[in-house]
Amino acid sequence: MAAIERTYSMIKPDAVRDRHMGEIITRIERSGLVIERMELAQVTPEQAAENYRHLADKPFYQDLIDFITSGPVVKIVVAGPAAVRKMRSLMGATDPLEAAPGTIRGDFALDVNSNVIHGSDSPENAEREIKLFFD
Ligand code: RTP
Ligand code: MG
Repeated sequence: MAAIERTYSMIKPDAVRDRHMGEIITRIERSGLVIERMELAQVTPEQAAENYRHLADKPFYQDLIDFITSGPVVKIVVAGPAAVRKMRSLMGATDPLEAAPGTIRGDFALDVNSNVIHGSDSPENAEREIKLFFD
């Protein structure tokens, strides 16, 4: 049996506003991953800055911060074997135009700036993001 891993995911404000959160949660559950913790909340400017610090020098950075703080998100801790990789596979490519049909971004988004869902990119960042958003 593979070791259990955790990842941090977040249904972004566009998907909450467009009432896709139920279907996205269903897809996560149907994959076999387990939702351990979940909360509807507003991302604070401090959390947004910390979460996207690796992109601070990008031209789209301010739009990204404005977007992620523009309305409620669903913060989720997801657990299971290779949870980081499995969630990113369910999510699809960052740019929805590249995301395969059947993936969350492929099915619910058209714009890289509002791409429906976040998922940690490594187990180390997952632990950091879980602390950032739940402590
Ligand atoms: P995320 O963190 O949201 O799960 O996405 P990711 O790992 O696939 O991509 P990352 O490089 O961490 O970028 C975070 C978010 O920044 C926006 N972005 N826009 N305009 C652009 O070229 C561009 N590149 C990235 C996206 O909204 C991406 O989800
Ligand atoms: Mg990322």
